[in-house]
Amino acid sequence: MSDPYFGREQTKAKHFILKSYLQALAFKVLNFSDVTYVDGFSGPWESKTTDFSDSSFMIAIHVLKDAQSQVLTRTGKRRRIKCFFSEKNARAYSQLASAVAEFHKPEDDFEIKTYEGNFEDAVEIIRPFVGTSFPLIFIDPTGWTGYPFDKIRPLFAQAKCEVLINFMYDFINRFAHSADQEIIDSLAPILGGADWPKRLDGNISRGLAVEKLFRDTLQKAGNFEFVISTKIDKATAERPHFFIAYGTKSTEGLKTFRQIEYDALRRHAKSRANAIEAKREERSNVVDMFADHRAELSEATVEEIVAEQKRLAAGHMLELLIQHGALKFSEVVPALLQPFMLRETNVKDICVDLAKAGQIENVWGTGNRKPRDEDVIRLRPRQ
Ligand SMILES: C[S@@+](CC[C@H](N)C(=O)[O-])C[C@H]1O[C@@H](n2cnc3c(N)ncnc32)[C@H](O)[C@@H]1O
Repeated sequence: MSDPYFGREQTKAKHFILKSYLQALAFKVLNFSDVTYVDGFSGPWESKTTDFSDSSFMIAIHVLKDAQSQVLTRTGKRRRIKCFFSEKNARAYSQLASAVAEFHKPEDDFEIKTYEGNFEDAVEIIRPFVGTSFPLIFIDPTGWTGYPFDKIRPLFAQAKCEVLINFMYDFINRFAHSADQEIIDSLAPILGGADWPKRLDGNISRGLAVEKLFRDTLQKAGNFEFVISTKIDKATAERPHFFIAYGTKSTEGLKTFRQIEYDALRRHAKSRANAIEAKREERSNVVDMFADHRAELSEATVEEIVAEQKRLAAGHMLELLIQHGALKFSEVVPALLQPFMLRETNVKDICVDLAKAGQIENVWGTGNRKPRDEDVIRLRPRQ
């Protein structure tokens, strides 16, 4: 079968993030709680398969079923999993409803509810459906409307709750400069009110400032401890296509997401290189014998980004230590993972490098040892 994601490299990256994230989250959360997955904009949409295996709802069903059975085998306890799918388009809804029907098995603790209509109008149906379980909310619109924070805020009320939102950067960026009051007003529900143009960070480009304000607004609306985002570039052009924003109330979630993001970006870099090559071959009709090598090179650019982020994060860490005196390693990690695209392992390496350079104390020992949660990181006193 041909690749259902051919020409849809961004969707492939989005689905990889969703799948990996659900896998990691489901295994962790099912140890202590039931889970409800809420997909506000379910589709199917541009699906290329007959079984919808390239749609977010089917990906989620398979991952969650698999996690439930693995947790049952490991712990002897079968957790309850529920999925809520809303879809506005009548044709897509009927495809969705018939595709998911066979997986609705309350007797096996796997329950599915579908809703035809606007996601924002389903809030009062979703809340009791979630009950006391752990909600994971996925919002994947085609534009920027349909999920006004004031209306959907109750979905984020629980002490434990996570959200993934596809922020349609490329599309929004085209309108972000508009002075048209109607457009400004239409962005207000996700940017904290119609005065949003006055609250943009003037030090970065307008598009990126809008994305930043969006994250800040989401953080406040959902009372999230951390909101970060992953930039997914256009497949064949050097500019962002969309951002996947992630909100969590836990440091563990933040750490997990940064790992998934790293894996996804490496894979996306490879897909992009292949897509660019396919486009070039189509134009010139000549096969490039070095295409594989080129894909490896583009994966290397992810490493370059990480190296640059590490450099900036090291400076930020020194500033934090000047401000706070000393911090546990377990506090340093979220303080760096929130603003920088780094994983916990990178933060360990930053500490080791700064200690080698004589800038912080080495309290974790020599050899291959690296800092652990309880280690207290502090500046090295000047001799
Ligand atoms: C980008 S597609 C979703 C793709 C899907 N999540 C996937 O990855 O396979 C957005 C879907 O949301 C539907 N939609 C648009 N506005 C909506 C709304 N206000 N409420 C619910 N669904 C909506 C569209 O009909 C479309 O099927």
